[in-house]
Amino acid sequence: MTTRQERTLTFSAMAVIVTAIVLLLMLPGCVHEPPVFPEDPTAGNGGGGNGGVNPDPCDPDTVYFQSDILPLLVSSCAIPGCHDAITHEEGIRMYDYQHIIQEVDPFDPGGSELVEVITETDPDDIMPPPPHDPLTPQQIQNIITWIQQGAQNNGCIGACDTTNVTYSGSIAPLFDWKCTGCHGGSNPQGNLDFTTWASVNTVATDGRLAGAIQHEAGYEAMPPSGGMLPSCEIDMIMIWIQDGAPNN
Ligand code: HEC
Repeated sequence: MTTRQERTLTFSAMAVIVTAIVLLLMLPGCVHEPPVFPEDPTAGNGGGGNGGVNPDPCDPDTVYFQSDILPLLVSSCAIPGCHDAITHEEGIRMYDYQHIIQEVDPFDPGGSELVEVITETDPDDIMPPPPHDPLTPQQIQNIITWIQQGAQNNGCIGACDTTNVTYSGSIAPLFDWKCTGCHGGSNPQGNLDFTTWASVNTVATDGRLAGAIQHEAGYEAMPPSGGMLPSCEIDMIMIWIQDGAPNN
């Protein structure tokens, strides 16, 4: 038997749950910049997973989700036609912690689907699939270490040195890390191959680079998922552009 009070109670409980879900769904939309450190109950204090109020300085022995793992998975897996928000092949989405963690068993790389597919030797099963290049041994090791360390949604504040920005010392390594997974290889996204200075210089000079990384209207927002670049990296790129995007 259901009394009127019980029905009212059930209704209020549902209202609370629905409100909670709506609030949760709104969360990622509010988090933009500076570097995103979403609050996460599994984040320990070693990783700066503390809501971004006061992230820890980077510890060289820790692999961080926000700076090491997410950019790698976005540029290797969340590419158009694969595991991005639009296609999400096989229901797998590789552009935020909430989805990536579903393919991971914290502290157990051997039991993690993510590790299985990137270390697969069968060309029919390996990820990323041919003709994409497989991840490098160093990238695979970073993912394994991150999982061994508990697969937290952690981040840290690295040193931000914008005093001596050069193409070879600052820009090329940043692009290799965050852009060339998509903008490189045999079929570069948007027909833009950023593995050489000349092509980066082209988009730096015609305004597309500044527009894309600052998410300006009229440009494709880059990177396309995983949040904006940290402000330090945007500053570095802007300084280099203002210097004339030299090959230094
Ligand atoms: C997940 C794949 C992916 C990653 C990672 C990525 N891009 Fe892109 N990028 C694209 C695609 C796809 C396009 C073409 C979009 C279109 O034209 O519809 C594009 C286009 C661009 C453009 C042209 C924008 C315009 O409005 O014409 C620039 C500049 C660019 N990317 C810069 C970057 C930079 C810098 C990074 C790294 C910080 C980056 N991209 C990372 C997929 C990616």
